[in-house]
Amino acid sequence: MDVLKAITERRSIRKYRSDPVPDDLILRCIGAARLAPSWANRQVSRFVVVKDQGSKEALGLTLTPNNPAYQAFLAAPCLVCLVAQRGVSGLIRGEQASDKGDWFMFDAGIAMDHLMLFAYSVGLGTVAVGAFDAGKVEEVLGVPEGYSVVAMTPLGYFDELPAPTPRKPLGDLLYLDRFGKAY
Ligand SMILES: Cc1cc2nc3c(=O)[nH]c(=O)nc-3n(C[C@H](O)[C@H](O)[C@H](O)COP(=O)(O)O)c2cc1C
Repeated sequence: MDVLKAITERRSIRKYRSDPVPDDLILRCIGAARLAPSWANRQVSRFVVVKDQGSKEALGLTLTPNNPAYQAFLAAPCLVCLVAQRGVSGLIRGEQASDKGDWFMFDAGIAMDHLMLFAYSVGLGTVAVGAFDAGKVEEVLGVPEGYSVVAMTPLGYFDELPAPTPRKPLGDLLYLDRFGKAY
């Protein structure tokens, strides 16, 4: 699928069919995320695929109350949890290389986007989920010291695409030469 078509059509999917996703497709999704750029190619992202129903339910319970993705955590055949190593991206010999500090969130965000766009291109739904109790997620997943869970997504087949969510007009986002100067 053309990249722009995937970017244009992808939606957050919160209703899934329970049909399992073949392992080779799961691996291709993670493979797409693996190809994402990262700060100095440090590749700090790690991916925990969760298929065990009890673990999916436990992870669902870590979501914020009324999180619209809760049912999706129970219904989707698997979840992908994106965990990133801290203190490596954006740092050289332990010193921050820029005024932005640790870039692990940025690197993980790009990786998640690669995963979501590729997943859509092969007919799979995703929704990036960030509102959860990270400490509880790390306990469920057994995440070691030095790593943080950044985001999770269900991964599975869906029946219909929701209507597109609105975006701000380009003119509200885009400037020429100086911030605030109309393009
Ligand atoms: C960093 C981040 C965190 C998000 N957290 C949640 C979440 O906790 N629960 C949820 O249902 N959706 C979550 N979303 C999905 C957004 O609500 C969704 O991407 C946005 O409304 C735009 O809709 P679209 O993805 O269909 O284009 C999150 C998205 C991002 C990028």
